[in-house]
Amino acid sequence: MSVRRLAEDHVQPPAFAFNAENADWAEATIRKYPEGRQQSAIIPLLMRAQEQEGWVTKAAIEGIADMLSMPYIRALEVATFYTQFQLKPVGTRAHVQVCGTTPCMLRGSEDLMRVCREKIHAQPFHTNATGTLSWEEVECQGACVNAPMVMIFKDAYEDLTPEQLADIIDKFDAGEGASVTPGPQNGRHLSAPLGGATTLLDEDAMQRVADRDVAERAVKPSAPEGASGGEEAVEKGRPAQKGVPLEADPTVARPQEAKGPGGPSKTKDEAGGEPADPKNVEADAAPAASGRTGGDRTDAPAATASVRSTPVNDADKPAPAEKPAEPDDLKLISGIGPRIEAKLNDLGIWTYERVASLTPAERAWVDDYLKFSGRIERDDWVRQAEALARGGEAEYVRVFGRKPR
Ligand code: FES
Repeated sequence: MSVRRLAEDHVQPPAFAFNAENADWAEATIRKYPEGRQQSAIIPLLMRAQEQEGWVTKAAIEGIADMLSMPYIRALEVATFYTQFQLKPVGTRAHVQVCGTTPCMLRGSEDLMRVCREKIHAQPFHTNATGTLSWEEVECQGACVNAPMVMIFKDAYEDLTPEQLADIIDKFDAGEGASVTPGPQNGRHLSAPLGGATTLLDEDAMQRVADRDVAERAVKPSAPEGASGGEEAVEKGRPAQKGVPLEADPTVARPQEAKGPGGPSKTKDEAGGEPADPKNVEADAAPAASGRTGGDRTDAPAATASVRSTPVNDADKPAPAEKPAEPDDLKLISGIGPRIEAKLNDLGIWTYERVASLTPAERAWVDDYLKFSGRIERDDWVRQAEALARGGEAEYVRVFGRKPR
């Protein structure tokens, strides 16, 4: 941060006055503030003075202080504190403010300042020979994602190369600054990724993530028992409407139907692990189909494919087991809440071992029974249950890198 002092006396004009238009504007601006708080107009008035004069003169500071009935020192404090106020004459056609904060520095702001030194002046806050250009280094301008960047008056020029900045400076010097379009200079739209979007490209994948979010909310313990819809809303990807069975809701398509005869594409979340990154959907589909999966389980993708394509048959209903003395807490498995646990218990499923041992056909039956639309596979209940059965929560953390829910 440079030391901010008023310009030398020999460049200071003897007096300051707003022109007629700005004087009207200033009066109206002062009236906006509550009685006794008119001094709060100091910043907009100083800014207006700068826009009129090109910089903030000592006469302007004192004149505005008089307008607001405030001591000169108070107005001077404001003018010297905020770096938006230029305290010395700047270029009449362009004052280039180069952001030198870390993101811009890492992306080449030093090279931009080199251009300024070569084309304008070796020192900041000095005008070029004709007085048309000046430059300075400033702190972050809030456009870091498009670093490096410069501000020229009220416009930002971003994603700059030294050559582009040199060209922009030349255009401003020639009085053609208006021909330069502000914003990114590398063709990208605003701060969108260069080369186009890389996320949110696969609507099916997005819908599956949304389905899971809705499902997790639907199985919260606080969900009122008996509310129509509830967990059934899971398969529809939207909250249930009270009193309207989803199957009877013609506005809701079953996900399987919406995805065409080929069925949904396989994603990482179906093969186990975290939700799929949409951009990786296609890349992940091939390994999943060929049998690769994460962790120490190698048959999950094949099982997934089997479950998704196996017609549900009542003969595949899991055989109920006797309730053990100490049933496992199935709610530790992501995707199982109190209501689903109760339904599994009703089916005679009490332990992690039993969940892990469900055959693909049995899982398909349970999935259909719960109207989960493939969620058992997506959440990889089997691998979760295997880990919990093998070593409890510690093993779960080792396998999944996070605590069970
Ligand atoms: S660091 Fe340069 S705009 Fe933020």
